[in-house]
Amino acid sequence: MSAAAPQGAPEHPPLLDVEDVHGYYGLAHVLQGVSLSVRPGELVALLGRNGAGKTTTVKAVMGMVAVRAGQIRFSGHDFVGLPTERVAQLGVGYVPEDRRMFPGMTVRENFRLAALGARVRKAEQQAAQDRALQVFPQLTDHLDRVASRLSGGQQQMVAVGRALICGRKLLLVDEVTQGLAPNIATEMGRTLRRVADEGRGVLLVEQNSQMALELADRVYVLDQGVVVASGEAAQIRSDPTWLEQFLTL
Ligand SMILES: Nc1ncnc2c1ncn2[C@@H]1O[C@H](COP(=O)(O)OP(=O)(O)OP(=O)(O)O)[C@@H](O)[C@H]1O
Ligand SMILES: [Mg+2]
Repeated sequence: MSAAAPQGAPEHPPLLDVEDVHGYYGLAHVLQGVSLSVRPGELVALLGRNGAGKTTTVKAVMGMVAVRAGQIRFSGHDFVGLPTERVAQLGVGYVPEDRRMFPGMTVRENFRLAALGARVRKAEQQAAQDRALQVFPQLTDHLDRVASRLSGGQQQMVAVGRALICGRKLLLVDEVTQGLAPNIATEMGRTLRRVADEGRGVLLVEQNSQMALELADRVYVLDQGVVVASGEAAQIRSDPTWLEQFLTL
C-alpha cells in the first residue's frame, strides 16, 4: 500500500493502462496526472471524496473529456483523441453516474440501441442480449416493459446490461449502487464481481467504500485529480484506518 505504482497480478498485461493523464473541462485542469491500470478478470475500485475526479477519469477513458497530456491504452489501442463511439466499439461498456438510458423505450429497445451503438452485427445482437440476460435473468420477464416503469434496481440492471452488450472486455461503472436499497446494492456488487471473475475487467467508482473494498482486487484513491494512494484490497481490508485518512474531510 503506497502512493507508488500498484503491484497487480503480473501474469496478465493490463487491459486498460492510464498513464499520467491530464484532463480538462474547457480551461479547468481537473485531472492532474492520473495513472491506473485494470487487468482482465480484475475488479478495480476507484475511490475518493466528492469532486476528486473519479467521474472525469472514467469519462476521459470514454473520450468524453479533453485529454491534453498522458496516455490511455486499451488492448493495444491508443484511446486519446478517439471518439466515444469508437471506444464503445472496441469493447468498453460504460454505466454513467446518472443511469442514462432511454426511459420511454422498452428494455429490449434499450439493449438493441446499445448493440447498435457498439456496432454489434445484426446476427450477433441476439447473443449479445442473451449474455446480458444471463447476468440479469430477472430482466427476462421485463423485456417488453418500458424502462422508466421498472424499479430503481431493475433500471440499474438495464444500465449495466447495456454496458455489458458493448463491454465485451471492460466495464466502467460509475456509482451504480447509488439510491438502491442495501440488499439490492449488495446483489449488484456481487454480480459485478462475477462479471470480473468470468474474465472482463471492471473499473468501479463507488461511494460505499466498504462494499468496494470487499469486492475489489485493487483500489486507487483519487484526490484533487491525482491518485494519492493505491494498493491491494486484501491488505487495505486488514487496516481499517488506511482508507479513512483519504476519504474523510
Ligand atoms: N462539466 C464540467 N465542467 C467543469 N468542471 C467540472 C465538470 N464536471 C465536473 N467538474 C469539476 O471537476 C472536478 C471533478 O469532478 P468529478 O465529477 O470527476 O468528481 P467525482 O470524484 O466523480 O465526484 P462525485 O463523488 O461527487 O461524483 C470537480 O471539481 C468538479 O466540480
Ligand atoms: Mg462522480
